[in-house]
Amino acid sequence: MKVLITGATGLIGTQLTKECHNAGISVNYLTTSKKKIENKPNYKGFYWNPYKEEIDPDAFTDVTTIINLVGATISKRWTKSYKKTIIESRTQTANLIFKTLKNNKTSVRHFISASGVSIYPNSESRLYTEEDTAVDDTFLAEVVQKWEASADQFKKLDMRVAKVRTGVVLAEEEGAFPKLLKPIEKGFGAPLGSGKQWLSWIHIDDIACVYVHIIKNGLRGIYNATAPNPVTNEKMTRKIASYLNKDLWLPNVPGFVLRLILGEMAVLVLKGQLVSSKKLEESGFEFRYVNVAPAIKNLLK
Ligand SMILES: NC(=O)c1ccc[n+]([C@@H]2O[C@H](COP(=O)([O-])OP(=O)(O)OC[C@H]3O[C@@H](n4cnc5c(N)ncnc54)[C@H](OP(=O)(O)O)[C@@H]3O)[C@@H](O)[C@H]2O)c1
Repeated sequence: MKVLITGATGLIGTQLTKECHNAGISVNYLTTSKKKIENKPNYKGFYWNPYKEEIDPDAFTDVTTIINLVGATISKRWTKSYKKTIIESRTQTANLIFKTLKNNKTSVRHFISASGVSIYPNSESRLYTEEDTAVDDTFLAEVVQKWEASADQFKKLDMRVAKVRTGVVLAEEEGAFPKLLKPIEKGFGAPLGSGKQWLSWIHIDDIACVYVHIIKNGLRGIYNATAPNPVTNEKMTRKIASYLNKDLWLPNVPGFVLRLILGEMAVLVLKGQLVSSKKLEESGFEFRYVNVAPAIKNLLK
């Protein structure tokens, strides 16, 4: 079996490539960076420039599933023009793949798109399942809506479409975890805002295996990809501090201070959603990291 991954060179894509290889699945990938192109028997890179509509059609040869992970990072200041980049790096990329599949005969039957739990409105008490249709009023929710709509167009080609609403991915060297870790390590860590906002997390090994599970089982529809036991920002901060043997002596960082520093991006740390993983588990997926303590222990080992 062969898959095509966009964003394969990123945090999730790198781990997903490893898990695909463990499962005997070959990987083609599209990259916007010519220097990232490799050519191995089970790992072949192809160049694309989605904004100039340049794509190498050979990337699709013998591919049955596409995993669309591409997307400009959301952890960079949200200026008006960068917001456009965040959206277009998700929509124009999917549009170009759609156009290519529409105009060429290929063996692709399954399109799996990354997505985010930030579509669900901020709440301290509501448990969100894939059935919930409420949409938050933030920029991130707008991104997710446009992103999922661009994935849904593949249904017109009679393809199965899956959308993976991903929580905060915990990995050792990149993403949210090192950012949470650093201030605590330096002795000035503290919960953010009320500390009660939910942090629906997932370990990097698990998110990669979620994609392999969806590929292997040909799943379609929305799947929340978050560990079964989300924690609050305060609990996450305290757990990390306890593994590092650090005291949390400072008061919570007030929300207004974070809004002053981060502007609109403060929603990333001040808002959160309590998200259910039940649908994924009922589809037969088994999490390696169900609780946050073993996940932190693994990342700090
Ligand atoms: N990590 C998380 O906590 C998390 C949570 C929820 C959702 N997600 C979503 O899951 C996907 C993968 O996440 P990740 O953490 O692995 O992302 P990542 O490490 O930032 O990698 C994304 C990849 O997308 C490509 N890319 C970046 N900017 C681009 C642009 N402006 N135009 C076109 N391509 C661009 C790059 O690949 P090339 O250089 O090879 O082109 C990059 O390696 C993303 O869409 C992300 O939003 C992630």
